[in-house]
Amino acid sequence: MGRSGSDPETGILYVNASNEAEWISMRPSQPVESITSFQLGSQIVQSMCSNCHGNPIAAAQFPEKPPASLESVAHRMSRPEVESILTAGRGAMPGFGYLLDVERKAITDFIFASGKNVHLQPGELDAQWKDEIPYQATGHHDFRDPDGYPVNPRPWGTLTALNLNQGTMLWQVALGTYPELERRGFQPTGTFNIGGPIVTAGGLVFIGATMDERFRAFDKDSGEHLWEFQLDAGAYATPATYSCNGKQWIAIAAGGGGKPGTRSGNKLYAFTLP
Ligand code: HEC
Repeated sequence: MGRSGSDPETGILYVNASNEAEWISMRPSQPVESITSFQLGSQIVQSMCSNCHGNPIAAAQFPEKPPASLESVAHRMSRPEVESILTAGRGAMPGFGYLLDVERKAITDFIFASGKNVHLQPGELDAQWKDEIPYQATGHHDFRDPDGYPVNPRPWGTLTALNLNQGTMLWQVALGTYPELERRGFQPTGTFNIGGPIVTAGGLVFIGATMDERFRAFDKDSGEHLWEFQLDAGAYATPATYSCNGKQWIAIAAGGGGKPGTRSGNKLYAFTLP
């Protein structure tokens, strides 16, 4: 599903969707590289603690300030004291009772730096993590035919108008196309899409989002494709509309790149409505 645009007057929701087959798989948790306890502690502190400790904007909201440098804590506190705060929390500091023992030890090794030379044996982390996370996902993979197109039937991307009051579909059209298939006479095939539509009071639905890097307008009542414009890069954003000097404008950012990995761009396009 994409983002959606809705028309408050008619109760119609306009939503784009991608329809490309993907495969994912699970595999047994991979062995963790041998790292030092200090390194593991440093990673955890970076991801779980530094949004408060060392972040002046966050720190300002707390009655008792979180020390910016956790290493400095070692001069004032003992290991058991730190471990107890870490488990139970204190004041505005949340508890991290769900940490594994090996993780809690790694954090204190990091804070007290004494663990600098403490290596975890390759199996040591695994043994604890495997109990809780026996399998890992391998991520999303495109499922393509030998020519590089999705294996499932077209359309590979759609724009749909749904009547929210009646729970019915008003219309659905293919969204986007592959230019080389278009040149061979194919109707729009639809493409993977990222970005949302807007609907104007004048009855138009505008959307970029497609891998063909075009910006389109559809009739909001019939879904008829009324207009398109070839951009320099994919517009994976949602358009904006505003009025200026008595004219209505539609603007769209075409930055490309990102998750689809198409070429990047740096243009903001603005069109006036007649
Ligand atoms: C949501 C913000 C927040 C996060 C996240 C956070 N802390 Fe804190 N921390 C605080 C605040 C606030 C205090 C002061 C608490 C008090 O004494 O009232 C504090 C205090 C502490 C203290 C005691 C310091 C002293 O001088 O008394 C330690 C040790 C500590 N934090 C470690 C950690 C570690 C390690 C992590 C990451 C696993 C972490 N904190 C994550 C907010 C946070």
